[in-house]
Amino acid sequence: MPEKFTEIRLLDNFYQTSSFYPMPVVLISTLNEDGSTNLGPYSLCFPYVVTGGKEHSMLLITRPDSNTALNITRSKVCSINFIPDRKKYLKNCVLLGFPGETSAQKMKNSIFTLLPSTRSGPAPDSLNKYPDIVGESEQVMECTWDDSHPLKPIPSSNGCHLVLVIHKIIMKNKWKDALFKGKGFPRLPVDFGFRDNIQFWFSRHSKPCSIKIPNSKSASIETVYYACTRFDPDIKWEKEACAKIVKVPNIFLKRVINGVVEAAKKEGVTMITPEFMDKVQDKRSAEKKNS
Ligand SMILES: Cc1cc2nc3c(=O)[nH]c(=O)nc-3n(C[C@H](O)[C@H](O)[C@H](O)COP(=O)(O)O)c2cc1C
Repeated sequence: MPEKFTEIRLLDNFYQTSSFYPMPVVLISTLNEDGSTNLGPYSLCFPYVVTGGKEHSMLLITRPDSNTALNITRSKVCSINFIPDRKKYLKNCVLLGFPGETSAQKMKNSIFTLLPSTRSGPAPDSLNKYPDIVGESEQVMECTWDDSHPLKPIPSSNGCHLVLVIHKIIMKNKWKDALFKGKGFPRLPVDFGFRDNIQFWFSRHSKPCSIKIPNSKSASIETVYYACTRFDPDIKWEKEACAKIVKVPNIFLKRVINGVVEAAKKEGVTMITPEFMDKVQDKRSAEKKNS
C-alpha cells in the first residue's frame, strides 16, 4: 500500500519553500554598460519554444532589477553557461548570486574564466559587443532576447519573464562526440533551491539510466505498412522500412510519414527502403559525416 499524502501550504517561491523541485544551474553572462561581462547564477531557466517555430528559445525567470535583467533588456544579448558540478564552482555561484551587489562588486570574486563570445556579426547593442562566455562551461547557449514576445507581465509578481532566442549552442568536443554517439553525459549539477532561508542545496551528477519504450506500445507492422502505403500513391514502401517506425506513437505517425515522403520527393526517391529511413531519421547524418 503506498504511503498517504499530506497537503503543504503554498508559499511564495513554492518551488523551493513548499516542494522539492530539481532545477538546472546556469551562469548567465550579460553585457554591462561599460562593455564588461556580468555573471548571474540562475535555475529558473528552461526550454520554451522547442519545436515547430522558426526559432528555438529558453525562458528565464528573474527579478526585474537584477543585473542580468537590466543588461538583457538594454543590450538584448546573453549567454547561458552550463557549468559542471564541482563544489568550488557551486560555492562561487552562491557568492555571485547574492542579491543587491553591483556587477563590479561581485565580479571581482568570480573564479570563472571569461572567454570572448563565439558569435560574429553586428550585435544589437550600441557597444556592438556580445558578452563573454564561461570557459569552464560544458555547454553554452548564445542567445538574443525576443522583446516582441507577447508574454504578459504578471502585475502581482516581482518576477520578469524573458524569452531568450537561441542563436547557437556550443559545447566541448567530447560532449559533441557523446551527443552524436548517443553515449555519455556531462556532469551537470541539480539545484534544489534556497531552502529555509539558510542555504542552497545542490546534488551532483549521477549516471543517467536509459529506459526503452515498452514493446507493448509498438504498433503492428501491418498497421504501419497500411498507413504508409496509403499516404501517397507515388511513393512505395518496403515493409522493413515501416518496421523502423513501429514505435512512433500513433498521434505522431502521420507527421513522421509525411516527413519521409517529403524527403523522398525532394531526392526523387520512389521506393522507401530501410536505408533511406535511416538517412531521414538521422537528423544529424550530414553533420556526422563532416565531423
Ligand atoms: C544557484 C542559484 C540559482 C538562482 N536562480 C535564480 C532564478 O532562477 N531566478 C532569480 O531571479 N534568481 C535566482 N538566483 C538569485 C540570483 O542569482 C540573484 O538575484 C543574483 O543577485 C543575480 O545576479 P545578477 O544581479 O548579477 O543578475 C539564484 C541564485 C543561485 C545561487
